[in-house]
Amino acid sequence: MKEQLEEILKNGVQEIENVQDLKALDELRLKYLGKAGALTAILRGMKDVKPEERREVGSLANLVREKIETALSEKLAELENAKLLADMEKEKVDITEPSRGIKRGALHPITRFNNKFMEICVEMGFTVIQTPEIETDYYNFEALNVPKNHPARDMQDSLYITDTILMRTHTSPAQVHAMETLKPPFKIVCPGRVYRNDDDSSHSPIFNQFEALVIDENVGLKDFMSMVREMAVRLYGKDVKMRIRPAFFPFTEPSIEIDATCQICHGKGCSLCKGTGFSEFFGGGIVNPKILEMSGIDSKKYSGFAFGPGIDRSVMVTNKIPNIKYLFRNDLRFLKQMR
Ligand code: DAH
Repeated sequence: MKEQLEEILKNGVQEIENVQDLKALDELRLKYLGKAGALTAILRGMKDVKPEERREVGSLANLVREKIETALSEKLAELENAKLLADMEKEKVDITEPSRGIKRGALHPITRFNNKFMEICVEMGFTVIQTPEIETDYYNFEALNVPKNHPARDMQDSLYITDTILMRTHTSPAQVHAMETLKPPFKIVCPGRVYRNDDDSSHSPIFNQFEALVIDENVGLKDFMSMVREMAVRLYGKDVKMRIRPAFFPFTEPSIEIDATCQICHGKGCSLCKGTGFSEFFGGGIVNPKILEMSGIDSKKYSGFAFGPGIDRSVMVTNKIPNIKYLFRNDLRFLKQMR
């Protein structure tokens, strides 16, 4: 039995010494110290050893177990350490490598223009509202006095979803929603996307507008003009000049179109403003009393004005963008130039 123990010690230590990975090491632990292991078998056989030898064999067996355990734990530490070093080597970070630079995002030119205009409106006491992009024929047309035979109602010009539901063709339905739900006096502005079946270098099926509506007692054209002037000054500076042209919209009476100093040539005249020194600011007018009544507002007590600037054209002109599609393509090469 002594020889057997010495054999186990010799072979065991040798095998443990030669092991190269953690899995094989665990197999050796089982082979010698496990329930079915070699040393365990010997210790179980102690009862058959002659009593006078039992002490000596017993202490030898303990010594062998200790030595094997020590060899196992030393090897375990060695292998774990080697693995750690290998992992560290793999994950090495070169802290001297020059940085690749942080790429910063920027707001889209439409968003920037929107934010600027909304800020001005809020400073002037407007409440910003949002109304649906998918509208009924009633809100988009009927309640705005757009007659049944108006070309905008044509399936070819508007993007219909069903016979009576369509993508809003302008933000003007926001006027109706506001008049139906708010108690006058109020001032609202509604920025948003609008949709038309149009597609060329200056028209996109999706574009952006605002709708502004002021309802109060005794408001008229002079209030409208002074507010618009104040907005233009805040937007373009105090030297801005304005001019009014007559226009027609079914929901305002009278309707006007307002031009402001061309922001490219600053009034000198250029190809964009066709030499006039002015470019279109927006259309609007005094709210047609019929519209007020349809939405439940007493037109004898209240009056109002409304206007609806398009945003894309202004952004295109001020940034010299030749094609409206650039605003919607999310092409980073373009957007980076707009920062
Ligand atoms: N909704 C009109 C359009 O898309 C613009 C407009 C005109 C809005 C007159 C108004 C307004 O609020 O009063 O062309």
